[in-house]
Amino acid sequence: MACIGKWTLLMSIALVCGCSAILGQSEKRKVHIVYMGNSPANPEKATSLYQKVLAKVLSGKEEVARSMVYSYAASFSGFAAELSTTEAASISKMPGVVSVFPSSVKKLHTTRSWDFLGLRVWPESESFSDKYLPDPIPSRWKGTCVSGDSFSSSNCNRKLIGARMFPNGYEQNFGPITGPGEYRSPRDAEGHGSHTASTAGGSSVKHASLFGLAEGTARGGTQTARIAAYKVCWFGSCTDADILAAFDEAVADGVDLISSSIGGSPQDYFSDSIAIGAFHAVQNGVFVSSSAGNSGPSVYTATNVAPWLTTVAASSIDRKFTSSIVLGNSLPYKGVALNTISLSNPWYPLVSGEAIRNASSPLANFSKYCYDGTMALDKVKDSIVVCYGGVGAPDATVLAAGGAGVILVDSFDKSVGFAFSLPCSVVGTADAKHILKYINSTSFPVADILPSITTVDDSLVPQTAIFSSRGPNIITPDILKVVLISKIYLQSPFLFPFDCFDNEITFLYVFTARYNSSWG
Ligand SMILES: *[C@@H]1O[C@H](CO)[C@@H](O)[C@H](O)[C@H]1NC(C)=O
Ligand SMILES: *[C@@H]1O[C@H](CO)[C@@H](O)[C@H](O)[C@H]1NC(C)=O
Ligand SMILES: *[C@@H]1O[C@H](CO)[C@@H](O)[C@H](O)[C@H]1NC(C)=O
Ligand SMILES: *[C@@H]1O[C@H](CO)[C@@H](O)[C@H](O)[C@H]1NC(C)=O
Repeated sequence: MACIGKWTLLMSIALVCGCSAILGQSEKRKVHIVYMGNSPANPEKATSLYQKVLAKVLSGKEEVARSMVYSYAASFSGFAAELSTTEAASISKMPGVVSVFPSSVKKLHTTRSWDFLGLRVWPESESFSDKYLPDPIPSRWKGTCVSGDSFSSSNCNRKLIGARMFPNGYEQNFGPITGPGEYRSPRDAEGHGSHTASTAGGSSVKHASLFGLAEGTARGGTQTARIAAYKVCWFGSCTDADILAAFDEAVADGVDLISSSIGGSPQDYFSDSIAIGAFHAVQNGVFVSSSAGNSGPSVYTATNVAPWLTTVAASSIDRKFTSSIVLGNSLPYKGVALNTISLSNPWYPLVSGEAIRNASSPLANFSKYCYDGTMALDKVKDSIVVCYGGVGAPDATVLAAGGAGVILVDSFDKSVGFAFSLPCSVVGTADAKHILKYINSTSFPVADILPSITTVDDSLVPQTAIFSSRGPNIITPDILKVVLISKIYLQSPFLFPFDCFDNEITFLYVFTARYNSSWG
């Protein structure tokens, strides 16, 4: 009985504690970055210095040890630790502390193209082969190849000379990283990092093509470059704590250039992990190139705009993928898509998703977008369907309903080549109007979609891609950002897993020219 009494007492204490937490007296701690400026004079002693800072707001050695997520000391001073807002505020007032900010989440500057393409780029890919690099790895290289899920040191070679992962910030926020869909190792589950790495420095891969489209030699901008990968994104989310750890480690390993294709919303530089990490990398003679983002075409959307970074827009390439649409009245329209499938019949009934709405569906008004469950399925079967883009996945719903093809109306129009799961061609709103008019003009409208043809066309370049983020620079308006739009850093994976089909870099492009008469 005494035992039960004790248990009851313990439980009620736990309850009291729970209540006070709910009342906010004991706020849940979150990972914060404590940024303390230039690298410490004594890197070996840095961690104990940071622990002293933490000890001023936390109670006891154990709590300090539990709180610490990263200690940064190679290229700058600071640490990542779990802190309450009150504790973070106290630290921010201490001498030597430049800024304290919550470790927020940035995103990969990519799209769903990999899923559209159904392609994966692995470290085993020929793009990371070292056959053209007979010379040994330079002795000044201090990096290493970290093992983990489906990745071992044998994945590294004279081309891929380093691979590290930075999971602590993510795991502290979101819990342990386990599959499916992610590897707790430097292995890239998403494809974005391998894509950007091979675009910048991949080896030559002869006869690369997308099912025969645009055949050529795929290669990175600098084939003789060695590559080291620093994985900071997990399930597509990249925390500030992990990003800073990667910058710090990369500088310590001895990289010459950092290329990063990650971003959040534009931020004050003192609470922007990429701006801080890059600042100290540049201070150490490392060039940093960062993506501007894919939030265009609205203005003031460019991120990674710190003056010491090169900010890279997404651009057009000089290659066009035309997939013609032929209508029963024989007018051809030149749509755009990576369309490798030939339809077997010469003509298919042509319908618009909007006109074949299933009135009994509660979402019937979305049939214009060929949204799942909104169309009369019997009208979709064996037809080519006109769908508006932007809501759902029209190619998937039309394919599932036994449709023959899709004419996708998209405001991105001709600047982006997508691949689809069935014959599909993308047109702008002007062409769409004519196509819909044709449908209305005859009792049996028919159409055909032809496989894509690749053409090289110099008039397509240089152009900023419509989806690319744009200036003006929202953080430092007086700084004119010069942006390198190049094939090396072309961060559009839309066209190919390898953007560099025998293309040469480079041209400069003025990104945020906002004339202010007070500049004189
Ligand atoms: C569909 O749109 C019409 C016209 O805009 C509107 O009157 C109707 O309520 C909408 N129906 C549904 C199911 O949202
Ligand atoms: C329309 O939607 C209803 C409800 O989802 C479904 O039962 C019916 O089969 C659909 N009709 C057609 C022609 O697809
Ligand atoms: C085609 O006909 C439908 C139904 O009569 C109408 O709502 C639509 O505006 C017409 N489209 C064009 C482009 O003429
Ligand atoms: C032009 O620059 C001045 C001085 O920096 C600033 O006060 C003003 O707001 C700027 N004007 C515009 C239109 O940006």
